[in-house]
This record gives sequence, structure tokens and C-alpha cells, in this order.
Amino acid sequence: MSVDPVASLILDEAGPLSGRVFVLDDVDGALTREAVRQGADVRAWCDDVRDQAQLPRAHVFDGLGSEDWVPDTVLWRLPRAVSAVEDTAETLACWLRPAGRVVAGGRTKHMTPAQNDALGRAFHDVRASLGRQKSRVIHATGAHPVHPRWPMRRHLPEVDLTVVARGNVFHTNRLDDGTHLLLRTLGRILPPPTGPTPPPTRGIAIDFGCGSGIIAAWLAVRGFAVSGIDVSQQALQSTRMTAAVNHVSVGTRRSDGFGRTPAGGADLIVSNPPFHRGAAKDSTPSLEMIERAGDVLRPGGELWLVFNSHLPYLPALRRHVGVTTIEARDRTYLVTRSLKQPESPEV
Ligand SMILES: C[S@@+](CC[C@H](N)C(=O)[O-])C[C@H]1O[C@@H](n2cnc3c(N)ncnc32)[C@H](O)[C@@H]1O
Repeated sequence: MSVDPVASLILDEAGPLSGRVFVLDDVDGALTREAVRQGADVRAWCDDVRDQAQLPRAHVFDGLGSEDWVPDTVLWRLPRAVSAVEDTAETLACWLRPAGRVVAGGRTKHMTPAQNDALGRAFHDVRASLGRQKSRVIHATGAHPVHPRWPMRRHLPEVDLTVVARGNVFHTNRLDDGTHLLLRTLGRILPPPTGPTPPPTRGIAIDFGCGSGIIAAWLAVRGFAVSGIDVSQQALQSTRMTAAVNHVSVGTRRSDGFGRTPAGGADLIVSNPPFHRGAAKDSTPSLEMIERAGDVLRPGGELWLVFNSHLPYLPALRRHVGVTTIEARDRTYLVTRSLKQPESPEV
């Protein structure tokens, strides 16, 4: 099987693999399989559940930071966001011994000096390889524990919530403009509770693609029993922290799409749906979500979305969910409300 240029450069720069090797965000499992073939003691983890599904099952390990198994070498496909590099570098620096090494690679066009700086906060020696086939590797050794910056919290007065986020989460601890427009619009029919009395119990809601959990916490404050769904483990960790700091409870599920969400179980789905996968624009997960939303909603339930106005979601919303209205728009976004047709009475 051919290995892509990034994985190939990481393997060449790492040299022969032995001892304990931890493989991080190995999107197609190629690094993990090669390290196993060379006879190393290999464990692997991906933040995105879709990438994790590509790993050989026996080597999947959710123990980043565990004291029982400390790697000698980390092979890492770098994320693009500097915040994500910084967050993981902090964790690795607390985990590795000073002699441990990180061999991290990516596409040159997605790499910036700020990523070296992020690694440099947690490792004494950081150096970049020569580029090859538009790819590059960073070597980091000399791990030293740092005062962690991540997770980061921030109060968002616009939505009266505090958000707590890991570094590999959409917009980290900030409020996305689309999410803000969505919540402002939904707030017209779901105002915040007033006074010390708890809000009325409103039903079951899903925040699809919950990220840092802003939408999930906002709905929970208003009395919904909320589940947040996301492919990313760091997103779900962030959602749980955001819920806790706002004194509400939110369930979380790591899933690609609705997964095993029962049919007819939700009164409300609210989402700022995904439009990227890694560096690439991709509307497929959102269209698949819309296709299943009609099934997941109870009759009379509603799907509220915000999305970039050029995206082709309106026909799909009308076909798979029901009557769809545009509730707000600005220069970039549309906010839509789709009503799942109530069941017609038996005659
Ligand atoms: C545009 S962000 C919105 C995040 C957050 N709800 C907000 O408003 O700030 C979309 C989220 O969807 C998640 N996501 C991407 N593909 C997904 C899929 N197939 N199933 C579930 N979640 C997905 C991403 O990890 C990301 O957190």
C-alpha cells in the first residue's frame, strides 16, 4: 500500500522504530501499521472518531498522559490550528521523559512558524526537517512540563455563558458569528429564564456538532435535556467543561453523524453544522445530518440551523425535514427553521 508524502517523511525522519511508540492523529493508520511492522510496542489515538476508525483496533489507546505507559517516540500528524498544536504539546511535555522525542509532520502549506513556537514552549529542542514533496517534519526533544494554557475559558456576555475549550475545537473559546446569529434568533422564542426559579422542562434537544458546547449549554440553561454530538474527543471534553462551569448538565456522544440516536426522540435539533473536514471544505456531513434529522425529530419537532448562505441546504431541508423558513440572514449566514410535519390524525 502506498504511503502519503507526510506519513512517508515522518517515517523516514523517525528512522528505525523500536521501544514504545505513540502515534497521534494518524488519519489513515499508515504510521501505526508501519510501526507495528517494525516490531515496536505501538499505541495510537485520533481526536476525530472517523480517523480513529482507520487504526488497527488492537492498538487504539485512550491513555494520553497515562503514567503506566510512557512512550519513547511520538509520531504525530500535526493539526493545522496552532491552538491545537499548543494544547497537545503541553500534554505531551508532561507525559514524555526528557529523552523522549516527537516527530511531527504536515503539509508545508498548512505549517507556520507559530507551530514551532507552540512546540518550543514545551520542548527545549525544536528543529524543522528539509521539505520533501510539499511536506515537512518538526523534531522536538527535551520535554519540560509547562504551566498549561489549555483548556482556556472566556465569558461571553453576548450569550451570557462562560465557555471552556480545548485547543483542537472550532473557534476554541470564542463565539462564532454564525453561532451568535443563530442564538440571537432562537432567543426570540426561547428567552433566558428570569429570577431564581428553574426554567420549565422543555423536552429533548440535540446540539449536532457541539464543539465547545456553547449551543448545548445555552439550551440547557433554558430547560432542555441536551445531548451534544461531535466527532472530536476534545470537543466533547470542552462541552462537558462548558456545561459544568455554567451549572447545567449536558450529555455527550462521540459519533460521526447521529449514529444510534433513536428515531422520533428529539423535540429540537440546533446546529452550526460542519463545513470542513481538516483543511478541506466538505458539506457531506451536513447534508447527511439533514437527511437523518427528519427521522430523529418527533412529529412537530424543529431543526434550527445556521449556515453560509451559498451552501445548498434549503432543498435538502425541505425534502428531508419539512416546511423550512428563513428566520434571519446577514451578509454571510442564513438561520433556518424546519418543522417536522406533525402526524396527520387517523381517519
Ligand atoms: C462549525 S463547528 C460548530 C461548533 C459549535 N457548535 C459552535 O457553534 O461553536 C461544527 C462541529 O461539527 C463537528 N463535526 C464535524 N463533522 C461531524 C460529523 N460527521 N458528526 C458529528 N460532528 C461533526 C466538528 O468537530 C465541529 O465541532
